This record gives sequence, structure tokens and C-alpha cells, in this order.
Amino acid sequence: MASRDLFFILNGEHPKLAFSEVLAILQATERPYSNIGKFDQLMKISTTLDSVQVITQRSALVHRCCAQFFESGDSVEEIMETAKEMTIDSSLVFGKNFAVRVKRIQNYGAHIDKVDLERRLGTIIFNHLKQVNKGMKVKLENPDVTFYGVFTEKRFFFGLSLWKSETYSQRFDDRRGHKRTFFHPGTLEPRLARVLVNLSRVKENELFLDPFVGSGSILIEARLIGANIIGCDIQKRMVQGALVNLQQLHLSGNLICADARHLPLGDEIFAIATDPPYGRSSTTKGIELNTLIQSFLVSAANILQKRRYVCICSPTHIKLQTIANDLGFKTVELHKMRVHKSLSRTIGVFQN
Ligand SMILES: C[S@@+](CC[C@H](N)C(=O)[O-])C[C@H]1O[C@@H](n2cnc3c(N)ncnc32)[C@H](O)[C@@H]1O
Repeated sequence: MASRDLFFILNGEHPKLAFSEVLAILQATERPYSNIGKFDQLMKISTTLDSVQVITQRSALVHRCCAQFFESGDSVEEIMETAKEMTIDSSLVFGKNFAVRVKRIQNYGAHIDKVDLERRLGTIIFNHLKQVNKGMKVKLENPDVTFYGVFTEKRFFFGLSLWKSETYSQRFDDRRGHKRTFFHPGTLEPRLARVLVNLSRVKENELFLDPFVGSGSILIEARLIGANIIGCDIQKRMVQGALVNLQQLHLSGNLICADARHLPLGDEIFAIATDPPYGRSSTTKGIELNTLIQSFLVSAANILQKRRYVCICSPTHIKLQTIANDLGFKTVELHKMRVHKSLSRTIGVFQN
């Protein structure tokens, strides 16, 4: 399948994480990609069209995906000049009517009259579709097809909208901690749990482990993208709670009561994503956090397949990278994220 240019509109709260999530999904699903461009809340990339489905099914932080028809500077003159020359792939366009929508990321393109630009781009699309015998009417409310233009840092991107995310409440809300049968205060929100799973680059049907499972947020998201799952926790009540939460969503998985420092598993694990206790709302059972993470990684190195990934969170004061590198893990990526006023977290992805 031939590669084509696509662009993705990304979550504004965690744009760097969103960018990494898309790349991790492409790597996990072994899709080819090239020509990556990184802009404020927008990522462009050349990849095959079937990547759209895997990215949009798995990702938590992509808001929209478009087939790119052109990219230009952000002045009306540059946009219109490029638009006149654009190649519209009409094989992707199906329906009786269309609309052109222009959006701004942040306040980029504030100098442009959006409605006028939509009208001018709409005229070009209308004439082109007529010429190729795919005549379509303009319909501004609920059109069959949306052509989408977006202003980001000093650039304008234009293409056909292929996919738009449902709102957060439709996609992840049902799995939020307070809606689960078993609730624990240290519960990760499902969208972040999904990102950690994606960063672990797990493939469908592979065996995935969360060794500090808590109430099961990460395990749930891993199962939902088709991984086979194992969760461990040192506390029996957490193991039982995670099991109840999986059952509530009709998901199957294995749970064991075990210490993450001495995991009773063979080397059959293909990916790990985990959020160990920070010693605040979740207990470390009196073990100093550096020691706990280090001992867990020693155990993880034995059960994780070679060249596969562990995605692990810690408070930023923990030297996660040093601990992992000293044990022979290679750093793939590091992200910093504010949790609240007195806590920031590092998310590290390391290769065995
Ligand atoms: C931060 S919670 C995990 C939260 C989980 N991500 C969620 O969203 O529910 C950490 C869990 O690690 C468990 N734990 C603490 N020490 C452990 C150890 N040595 N081995 C395994 N689990 C441990 C705690 O019982 C707690 O349930």
C-alpha cells in the first residue's frame, strides 16, 4: 500500500506525549512512516492509509486525522496560491454534500477571516469535484464530508477529515475511577493509562504486564486494545479489586498477588506499563521508592523479552533514567507531567 501525507490534530494538554503516542502506535503495529513534521498540536506524517485505523482505534490523545491536500504559509495569498495547485484525491471523497471548516490552534491565524477563507477554499473544492464528475452540494450543518483547514505555528494545513474523536466523556468516561466497582485514590485516569500502554508498544495478542496493578486502570486499557494481560499487586485486596473492575467491563485477564521485586513469571512478557506507588495515596510497604523501582527493574529485565519496552512512571525527584540505564535498559523517551501543585511525574520508556 502506498504512503500518503496525513496530519493529526493532537491533545493540547499533552502535545509532546500525543506526538510520541502516535509514533509508538506506528512502531507497535509495524506500519511504515516517514517525513514527520512536528508543530504546535499538529503532527504531519507520511504513512499508509490503514495506519489511520490503528492510530485512531488505539490512541488516547489524537483528536482528528486528515488526508493532507496541501500545506502552506499562513497568509491568505500563500494559502490561495497553493490551494489552486492542490491535488484533491477524490477517491477518498464519498457523499452528496460537503463543508469546509477552518480552525485555529491556539490563536494562530488570528489575522485571517476564517469564514471568507472557508468560502474561497469551498469554491475550489466545488469546482474540482464537478470536473471529476463527483459534483457535491455545500451543506454547512452535518455534511457527509468535511474538508478541514487548520492554522498552527506559522503554517496552514488543509485536507479531508478522515476521523474525529468522540468527546472524552463518550470514549473514556465510563472507565473513570469513581465509576468502577472497586475504587482506590491512586487510580490513574483511563486516558493516561491508555497512553502508557501505547508507549509500551504492545501488540495485539501479546502478553502484557502491570506489576503494580492497583485498581487495574492500565490493565483494562491494555486488554481493550487486544493484549493478553497479567497484573500483580502485593496487596490481596488490590488484586481482588482489579479483578472486580475487569469483570465489570467483561474483560478477561490474570491477576496474581506478588511482589514486583520478585515476579513469579518466566520470560514470556512482551510489554510492561506501570505506575508504582509514590508512597502518598498508595503504599510502598515501607520500601524506599528508589530501591523499589530498582529492584522491580532487575526483576523486569529477566521476564521481559529482549528489545521490548517497559513504560514506568515515578515522581520527578527519582532518577528513573539513571536507575534504568545502570541496569542496562536503553532510554527510548522521557516525559515530564504535572500531577498537582506538589507533585510532578516522569514517564520513562526503556528498552530491555
Ligand atoms: C499507584 S498504585 C497503582 C495504581 C494503578 N495504576 C491504578 O490506576 O489503579 C500502586 C500499587 O502498587 C502496589 N504495591 C506496592 N508495593 C508493591 C510491590 N512491592 N509489589 C507489587 N505491588 C506493590 C500497591 O499495593 C498499589 O496497589
